[in-house]
Amino acid sequence: MTSPVEIKIEIPGRPYSVWIGAGILERAGEFLPLSERVDVAMLAADETALTLYGERASAGLEATCVRVERESIEGGEAAKTMSRAESLLRRLTAAGAHRRDLLVALGGGATGDLVGFVAATYHRGMPFAQMPTTLLAQVDASIGGKTGVNLPEGKNLVGAYHQPVAVISDVTTLQSLPGGEFSSGLAEVVKHGLIDDADLLSLLQRERAAIFDREPMSLVRLVSQAASIKARIVAADETEQGRRAFLNYGHTLGHALEALGGYSTWRHGEAVAIGMMFAAHLAAGLGFADRVAEHARAVEAAGLPVAGAEAPFESVLRAMGGDKKYHGGIRFVILEDLGRPRLVSDVSTDLVRSAYEKVSA
Ligand SMILES: NC(=O)c1ccc[n+]([C@@H]2O[C@H](COP(=O)([O-])OP(=O)(O)OC[C@H]3O[C@@H](n4cnc5c(N)ncnc54)[C@H](O)[C@@H]3O)[C@@H](O)[C@H]2O)c1
Ligand SMILES: [Zn+2]
Repeated sequence: MTSPVEIKIEIPGRPYSVWIGAGILERAGEFLPLSERVDVAMLAADETALTLYGERASAGLEATCVRVERESIEGGEAAKTMSRAESLLRRLTAAGAHRRDLLVALGGGATGDLVGFVAATYHRGMPFAQMPTTLLAQVDASIGGKTGVNLPEGKNLVGAYHQPVAVISDVTTLQSLPGGEFSSGLAEVVKHGLIDDADLLSLLQRERAAIFDREPMSLVRLVSQAASIKARIVAADETEQGRRAFLNYGHTLGHALEALGGYSTWRHGEAVAIGMMFAAHLAAGLGFADRVAEHARAVEAAGLPVAGAEAPFESVLRAMGGDKKYHGGIRFVILEDLGRPRLVSDVSTDLVRSAYEKVSA
């Protein structure tokens, strides 16, 4: 087995490492920076991930933790509720967990967000580790310490910043990921490439076949390169005052399309792909470099749509204005050129409409 890649996240006062490798779940203990033996490690796992990878993860934790308990979390977004957070908090109490014990999230971004939020609040904060098992969670959600749950009124309305003590990304877990979920995660890879590093786009194009075959070494290269971009951005801006906003590239339109489709028309990654194409058209319309062709090549290599939005423009405009990142006028992230993101506001409705028409069905 080759050694895993380590990416250090230099958040002032709370540095930690992201480990990316093949077959590292069962060695989890080696990657946990624990100064003393943990009495209770609670492995809170997405139900699918628990069935497939629970044994390996538990074996890894048993090396450094006296007792490993498991809690199954229903898969997907349905788990991100206040009532699920409460039941997990009570499960920790029942297990006799203390402030210095360890909570571990095994699963996708939804599990990580819920479990991280519980870790942020149990006894006013306990250590937690992430073991992401979706591509989206490995390159995006597990890094940066944003945690939270949804309310009936909207997504991610309750939450906290709480950094994990370690992120352990075992790419072999991606082998069981359904194709649609895999492509959805590739949208965030493309996003990181477009906003920060065109080499990542070349890697995706060059190793496309091996990546889609989920060949472990190609995945290690892809995930590490994509994760290191997120790592750099969040280390520079933990609480989203500046550069972290660039991670919303493609998401202003993307979130609007997802919401207007009742979260069933588009997967997150598909909506973001169309959102990035829209942003490319908008940038060209604003007189910046025309990188529409480069966007289309990357989006197509990821197996994602370059157009096809069906919602009427007026509803899209309203949905984008209602985005929680709204600060007086819709702010869009666009690229002055590949790797050079910037925020623009006060864009004329005509320009927004014409860019939207280019990604419409
Ligand atoms: N905290 C952050 O910074 C951040 C960033 C981006 C997204 N998010 C959040 O992440 C969530 C989306 O994450 P996601 O795309 O990972 O979705 P998810 O957690 O809902 O998982 C998607 C599906 O894949 C299944 N699954 C998980 N691992 C699997 C595996 N290895 N094999 C087979 N099936 C598996 C799950 O059961 C689920 O049905 C959203 O709630 C979003 O808000 C958070
Ligand atoms: Zn996203």
